[in-house]
Amino acid sequence: MGERRFDNEELLTVRLSLRRPTMEDVDTIHSIHSDRRACAHNPADLLATRADAEDRHRRWDEHWRRHGFGYWAVRPRDIGQPSAPLGFCGIKVMRLRDVEVLNLFYRFDPSAWGDGFGTEAATAVVDWATSHLPDRTIVARVRPDNTASLRVAAGAGLHRAEHLDAQGEDGLDWIFASRGTT
Ligand SMILES: CC(C)(COP(=O)(O)OP(=O)(O)OC[C@H]1O[C@@H](n2cnc3c(N)ncnc32)[C@H](O)[C@@H]1OP(=O)(O)O)[C@@H](O)C(=O)NCCC(=O)NCCS
Repeated sequence: MGERRFDNEELLTVRLSLRRPTMEDVDTIHSIHSDRRACAHNPADLLATRADAEDRHRRWDEHWRRHGFGYWAVRPRDIGQPSAPLGFCGIKVMRLRDVEVLNLFYRFDPSAWGDGFGTEAATAVVDWATSHLPDRTIVARVRPDNTASLRVAAGAGLHRAEHLDAQGEDGLDWIFASRGTT
């Protein structure tokens, strides 16, 4: 795709630091993705073992190597000591109805829900993609009963795009998009 390289970029928001995940983050990938609350609307994303989490990290890292961006590990900023991520948020290249798009992802530990972190991180990622990859459409694929996720997609600036709704791995996905796609 002839991407520019962005590899060591850190995204900062008022409260959060977003960085490329490392092997140090595998335990958190495992704990969040083996928590049924965090995967209630997307059971296909559940992980059973730590080895599965290592594999998930390997695939995320492969995306970073190939494209120069991907999913970020989200931590509180300026806390001055190593800490586990609150969650993960980022974009993945995928095809939706034969169009290459950037799929927005966010998943946080349930202990971090309800403080606005999901919207804050997703907004930073959408802003980053809009400025660094301006020709790409950003989409979020959301299960219709996942109210928090619907709110995060809208809060990050994406718009409901009913004409793109599609069956996903876990059933019907409502599509939000940064602009119209055919
Ligand atoms: C989706 C998720 C990242 C939201 O994270 P969060 O930090 O709690 O989100 P925020 O605090 O920014 O809240 C966003 C909005 O959702 C609302 N909200 C949060 N939790 C809610 C809930 N359980 N039910 C209804 N609304 C909820 C908030 O009030 C807020 O509304 P507003 O935009 O009108 O102010 C988090 O719930 C999560 O990790 N869920 C599991 C993974 C997942 O479903 N990912 C999406 C896959 S498509």
